[in-house]
Amino acid sequence: MSQLIRSIRDLDLAGKAVFMRLDFNVPLSEPDAEGHRQVTDDSRITEALPTIRMALEKGARLVIGSHLGRPDGKRTPESSMEPVAHHLATLLNQEVTLADDCVGDGIEMMIRSLKNGSVLLLQNLRWYKGEEENDPEFARQLARLGEVYITDAFGTAHRKHASTYGVPQIAQQKAMGLLIEKELKFLSRMLNEPKKPFYAVLGGSKVTDKIKTIESLMLKVNGICIGGAMAHAFWAVQGDTIPEGAKQPKPADVEAARVILKEAQKREIPILTPADTNQGFDIGPKTVERFSKLLQDAGTIFWNGPLGWFEKPEYAKGTFALAEFVAGLPAMKVVGGGDTVSAIKQSGFADKFDHLSTGGGAVLEYIELGSLPGIDILKSIRQAQSPVLQ
Ligand code: 3PG
Repeated sequence: MSQLIRSIRDLDLAGKAVFMRLDFNVPLSEPDAEGHRQVTDDSRITEALPTIRMALEKGARLVIGSHLGRPDGKRTPESSMEPVAHHLATLLNQEVTLADDCVGDGIEMMIRSLKNGSVLLLQNLRWYKGEEENDPEFARQLARLGEVYITDAFGTAHRKHASTYGVPQIAQQKAMGLLIEKELKFLSRMLNEPKKPFYAVLGGSKVTDKIKTIESLMLKVNGICIGGAMAHAFWAVQGDTIPEGAKQPKPADVEAARVILKEAQKREIPILTPADTNQGFDIGPKTVERFSKLLQDAGTIFWNGPLGWFEKPEYAKGTFALAEFVAGLPAMKVVGGGDTVSAIKQSGFADKFDHLSTGGGAVLEYIELGSLPGIDILKSIRQAQSPVLQ
């Protein structure tokens, strides 16, 4: 019997306490005079809304858990879920109660008195070390918070943590949400049946962080454009000069670039590096032209990593110009990574892309391994009622 993953669509949630793991790890502003922070990019929250709304429409008593930042087991004010609770309440146009903790008797009491269709947001799961350590006792405490476990935390699905792995291991009923369904639909189509030619545009700083993903991509793509500081390691191998003041590549990155170039040569896959730069912090117009020439007949494009220091307007031009060019192509266009999604949004062409993934590390790991532990753990041999993903 094949292993299937149930969807929230399949479940009867009326009157049930639902523990929903979401990835609300969103960027926040600096605190204002009263110490309040604001959510500065709410993509991960808005992308989870369809699942939240479906649970509420089904009459769930909804308990949402997420991490925010890396507080490493400490209750720090900057990692409080308070700005997220506020933002979520505004988007849902309904009250969201923020708990002062995420496990314990007090929380369980609050959940017992939750009304159907109401929302309780737990405090940061990483205020407990047991979360990242996948401590079985912490997972048991979390599992007590709902009769049903639903995850839509695609961005955290590469982590084997208590809330992403330990809880679904012991939950009676478990399912994925609509965001995970959507992510898998685009990513699996891109990897398993891409319209050819399939090209990747890769940027960012370290080659070593992405070498495994690039090695897997090389089995599928017809060419790769490399920009960002990562390109410097490729220049070092090719014997090109790195502009003065620009980031010098680390020996490990140069070694990784060498391995990639050798493999690409063997497979006859063109690897394009920048032809010109703006002081080493952005790709120049000749590079935009060079990349555009390769990409113009694309059937599928995957883009991960900005091509320059786009947060500084003077170094955003190259990334934005290529985003404009790619936006106009009839190819399927998928973007992965928080920074890359922000850059594409800032370019003003986001609505021309087919999918902006909420995952950073999760997308890279999915490309590398073809699966993620936080999704695999949802598999069960029970027959699902809706169409499901493997
Ligand atoms: C992310 O932002 O990539 C996810 O929320 C996971 O966060 P982490 O890298 O701190 O585990």
